[in-house]
Amino acid sequence: MPTSRRQFLRTAWKFGAAFLGAAATWTTWEALRPLASRAAGAKVRVGDAGSFAAGTATYIPEGRLYVVNANSQYFALSQKCPHLGCRVPFCESSGRFECGCHGSVFNLAGEWQAGPAPRGLDRYGLTADGTALVVDTGVLDSGPDRGSKQFDLPATGPSCETGA
Ligand code: FES
Repeated sequence: MPTSRRQFLRTAWKFGAAFLGAAATWTTWEALRPLASRAAGAKVRVGDAGSFAAGTATYIPEGRLYVVNANSQYFALSQKCPHLGCRVPFCESSGRFECGCHGSVFNLAGEWQAGPAPRGLDRYGLTADGTALVVDTGVLDSGPDRGSKQFDLPATGPSCETGA
């Protein structure tokens, strides 16, 4: 039985509407889902301490966190901004974490430097197993108070956000 042009268009419209609805639902879920760690609660061996050079921040995707070496002290920093939860990228040129959402800035150790964030970046539990560093993603301590100035870590170059 041949399909009329009108029937074809009606069916195509229904498929199109269903596709758009599914796409909108998926997009909304991706935008709003919590930035939960894939390794939430697990202990993650992130590598030998010697592989994290001084002055560097290394992103650990399975934990959604950064391991940093700040003046030979190691921290496992949450990627989540303590202001409103945006993912905070590390800026290689400035050597700082710069939140693109509202401009909060944190030094390499995660201490607050500028912007509306109420504190520094939160820190996961970090221990050594021999020479290996192990992050406990089940232990998350609040970042240092805004007044914390334990580390003298000035910007190493221009900001990724402002260029200054
Ligand atoms: S979420 Fe980072 S500054 Fe607002």
